[in-house]
Amino acid sequence: MTDYKTILVERDGRTATITLNRPKALNALNSEVMNEVVAAAEELDRDADVGAIVITGSEKAFAAGADIKEMATKTFSQVYGDNLFWGWERLTQVRTPIVAAVAGYALGGGCELAMLCDLIIAADTAKFGQPEITLGVIPGMGGSQRLARAVGKAKAMDMVLTGRQIGADEAERSGLVARVVPADELLTTAQEVANKIAGMSLPIAMLAKDAVNAAFETTLSEGVRLERRSFHAAFATDDQKEGMAAFVDKRSPKFTNS
Ligand code: CAA
Repeated sequence: MTDYKTILVERDGRTATITLNRPKALNALNSEVMNEVVAAAEELDRDADVGAIVITGSEKAFAAGADIKEMATKTFSQVYGDNLFWGWERLTQVRTPIVAAVAGYALGGGCELAMLCDLIIAADTAKFGQPEITLGVIPGMGGSQRLARAVGKAKAMDMVLTGRQIGADEAERSGLVARVVPADELLTTAQEVANKIAGMSLPIAMLAKDAVNAAFETTLSEGVRLERRSFHAAFATDDQKEGMAAFVDKRSPKFTNS
């Protein structure tokens, strides 16, 4: 595994955990963090021995947003020329399921990074917000789009236009997070969820992730068609044979990711 400066990457069985590690800046997402998170996720995605990835931060902050100090003096031609934040979109190409484990602040780019993951487990201390408007900008890592899809127009407008933060319970009620747990159980719960996913057939988990994501990219009829084709394709795998045989034999399946 490559050596990284702003993140830690650990492996436990088939689950890998990427921990954002810029504590003094509350894990503000500068370009080095972006490059390292994306590179690490892509490296793990290429590794067939990794069945799920957890992305987490610290107790105080998942991430307090894009690094304001890094971008404060940039000009339009610089941010446009660099296509600032485009790099984060590469996470959407990672096919291995990604679980965000969020405690403390998930603001601006922090909230957007959590939403780039496939599902969010939140500590009861989590605070989600898109405060960019208070800085004279708007979300730039997909927040206006993914938040609107996750929580609906009314709450997304509320958060994006006023910068209001919402707590873990409101985030769960609104559909932004999958589960809320006590802060001291956050990482173990997220890793249990990741282990559970990693225990499934990896190609089938990838098909499942792809099918759910299609719901946000296409029409209902196209999405259902894609789902049905992927369902049919599952019958080409050994793991479908094994999964159904195991059910019939009343035993646990032994998936081989083939
Ligand atoms: N960028 C750069 N540095 C940041 C940062 C950020 N987003 N958030 C926090 N920091 C730094 C602070 O400057 C401070 O550094 P110094 O000790 O050198 O002064 C350190 O982290 C600790 O922060 P605070 O002293 O502010 O801690 P706090 O507990 O008093 O407040 C906070 C916590 C409410 C999260 C506050 O830090 C804050 O409001 N941060 C900015 C949140 C924000 O606006 N995020 C959106 C960024 S823009 C964006 O993300 C664009 C996009 O769509 C991609």
